[in-house]
This record gives sequence, C-alpha cells and structure tokens, in this order.
Amino acid sequence: MKVLEITGGKDLSGTIRISGAKNSSVALIPAAILADDDVTICNVPEITDTDALTETLVYLGAEVRRASESIVINPATIENKEIPEEQAKKLRASYYFMGALLGKYKHVEMFFPGGCSIGQRPINLHLKGFEALGATVSHDGNKYIVDAKELKGANIYLDIASVGATINIMLAAVKAKGRTTIDNAAKEPEIVNVATFLNNMGAKISGAGTSEIIIDGVNHLKGCFHEVIPDRIEAGTYTIIGALIGNYLKIDNIIPEHLEALTSKLIDMGVSIEIGADYFIVNKSRSYKPVNVKTLGYPGFATDLQQPFSVLLTQCNGKSSITETIWENRFMHVPYLNKMGANIKVEGMEAKITGPTKLKGCEVEATDLRAGASLVAAALIADGTTTITNINHILRGYENIVEKLTDVGAKIELKEI
Ligand code: EPU
Repeated sequence: MKVLEITGGKDLSGTIRISGAKNSSVALIPAAILADDDVTICNVPEITDTDALTETLVYLGAEVRRASESIVINPATIENKEIPEEQAKKLRASYYFMGALLGKYKHVEMFFPGGCSIGQRPINLHLKGFEALGATVSHDGNKYIVDAKELKGANIYLDIASVGATINIMLAAVKAKGRTTIDNAAKEPEIVNVATFLNNMGAKISGAGTSEIIIDGVNHLKGCFHEVIPDRIEAGTYTIIGALIGNYLKIDNIIPEHLEALTSKLIDMGVSIEIGADYFIVNKSRSYKPVNVKTLGYPGFATDLQQPFSVLLTQCNGKSSITETIWENRFMHVPYLNKMGANIKVEGMEAKITGPTKLKGCEVEATDLRAGASLVAAALIADGTTTITNINHILRGYENIVEKLTDVGAKIELKEI
C-alpha cells in the first residue's frame, strides 16, 4: 500500500510551477476522437486520470504518443467498440467518450463512469442532451446504449449548469446537422478550453464561458495543436498551502483571473498575497480573520477548493463556515481534520469551523481527491508526522505532488508499506 508521510512545520519557499488542468485534459483526450487526423495536446499533466484515458484511447485503436507534457493522438484507426466496465469505472471523465463517440459514430455503448464518491453524480442531463439531439438512450444493466440515425441541432436547457453535461453536449453536437443552443450552460474555464480545442479543429462554437453556447454543426474536424490551460484547482490548493506555511512561496504559470473567488476571500482574511500577471506570491501571516464561503459554479467559489480551504479556516481567529451547494458528500475529510485537532461541526451541507486550533500528526485517510489535498495541507502545518493512506485519490489529480512540495522545502515522502 502506498502512503504519504509528511512531517509538518517546515516553511515553504521557492516556486511551484502549476501543471495543465486535469478537468480540461480529461475532456480534451476523449474529444480528440472527433478529429480526422493527428491532434497534439500540450501541457497535459502526468496524473493517473490522464493515463487511464489514454489507455482507453489505445484500447479503442488510436495511435497515442506521449512525449513529456504533450500527447499526440491519431484517432483515424479507432474502432467504436464497448469500453470495458473496469476501465470506464476508473474515473468520472470516462463519460466524455459518450459524447465524443456519439458525435463521431452516432452510436455508443458505455458503462456508468466511476470517480470520487462526493455525491450521487447522476448523468441525466447528459442523456437529456443526447436525446434532444435525436438519439435514443436505452440500458442493459449498468450499460447505456445511445444510438442515433442522425444527430440534429436542438435547443437544450440544462436544469443545473453542469460542467460534464455542457461539455458532453458540445462533443455530441459539434458534427450534428444545424444549430444547437445550450442554455444555462456551465461557464468554467475548462469549458472554454474544450470549445477552443474543437474550434481549432474546425468546429463552430461561440459563447463558451457564458451561459448560452451556440454550436453550428460541421461535417469534418481536422487535426490541430492545442494547449491545456493551467490547473486552477492545483494552483488554488498550493496558494492555500502558501497562506498556511509559505515564506515567499511563488505559485507560477497560472491565470490569476480563474482564481478570483479564492483570492478575494484570502484578501478578506488578511492573507499577504501578491497577484502578478501569471503568478501569486504568498506568505503566511500571524493571524487571520474568519470568513464564510459558499461554493458555486464558476465564477463563484469552486467546490473543488472548499476542502483545502477548510484547513486554512481552522487557523482563523473565530468562527467561519463553508456551505457546499454542489456535492452532497463533500465533507468526508472533516472527521480526519478533527482527529488532527480541528474543531469542525458539519450540519447538513454546512461546516462550522472554530479556530485557531493546533493540528497534530496522526494516521488519516484520503477519501477522495480534494479530501486528500486538504489532508496534505493539514499535515504540512501539523506538529509531528502524518501518514495519509488511500493516496491513489491524490495521485489522480496532482502531478508530481511529492517533488513539487519537496522542492520548496516540505518534508514529504511517498512510501510503500
Ligand atoms: N448533475 C445532475 N445531473 C447531471 C449532471 C450533474 O444532477 O446529469 C448535478 C451533480 O450531481 C452536481 C451538479 O449537477 O450536483 C454539478 O455537477 P457537474 O456535472 O457540474 O460536475 P461534473 O462535471 O461531474 C466537474 C468536475 C468536478 C467538479 C464539478 C463542479 C470533472 C471531471 N469534474 O464534475 O471536479 O467538482 O465539475 O465544478 O471535470 C474534482 O476535480 O475534484 C472534481 C470533483
């Protein structure tokens, strides 16, 4: 079993370079299927989630070459066959193969995807979108069969501004006949990144990044060159760590605008942060004011940062709160933070945090990806040594986390026990 062993208390100085965004890459890799020839995607993070998706592409028959941060995909040899359930269950983003294969071949058979257990995570809106485009959806046990004689543009309203449904509908609609409009679309930067990728291939998508996306179907999509945006959640996680224990810690290669909801809260709390054109420099301060946070879709406060942020709130003077509005099961890290000495009470979708509390090292478990990130942050400020188990979740989303933290002075080791 792999564990992370972290001894806290060491100030972190130097530069952490942020990798390409996980949540863009996991959509771009399946989206490459839609092209007729070579697609090059650069700045793809080497994390287990991107590994699993490239394995799936290879399974389908694509030629895939990985050269450090770039992936070159030739989808010309792909066969539209069923992806084994084991493979589909490795991560949530397997569902993007549904939109991409449906968009290209008008037929897809896929098992329900896996991913972190942070809520029920239905895919009804994805399926509703496919049906609106003219597909029929049927089930065979855990498997969805989505079939269309022809895909035709449609007006689609999403009850919830879902990131996954917005991207999946774009993938399915990009080669449909006529115009598709997605209303109440999600506005996350990763959606803009995927739309830009498809437009680089020759698609006609406008409005990505707003709540109305318009897609005019095209017949062919060609190969292209594309760059993944920096990972705003990885950047936010290290920025929070900087506020906890940074000593002139530079978070480099970022788009600061993507992190405004976080930086605005940090400034309210009294965190010393310099915001540059593509970097932050963060220093820990002696005392922080408590704040209340409510998670929302972009440009609101990202749910994916709520768990690491809760660690910072344990160090504020007084009572803070976090209201989670996206996922019904995203406080699984709290019992472990409390075991380390935090004072957090969860009532329904709200966590009430009273600080400041000293944290001490002990054995804790990463129940999901961002829960794992929050435990890393907590361990870095705790007295003594913390052992984090179930770290596969962390390795799904944070590229070279051990090396990046070691390089700025942390005592962190990945051990096999
Ligand atoms: N929802 C439905 N029906 C659907 C789709 C979503 O009810 O068909 C609900 C969900 O249950 C949830 C809400 O809508 O309550 C929002 O879900 P969304 O579809 O936006 O989430 P997602 O696409 O499954 C992505 C990220 C998550 C991130 C959310 C919200 C990827 C692969 N995952 O998930 O990232 O939390 O958007 O921003 O892009 C993470 O990186 O740790 C992570 C969980």
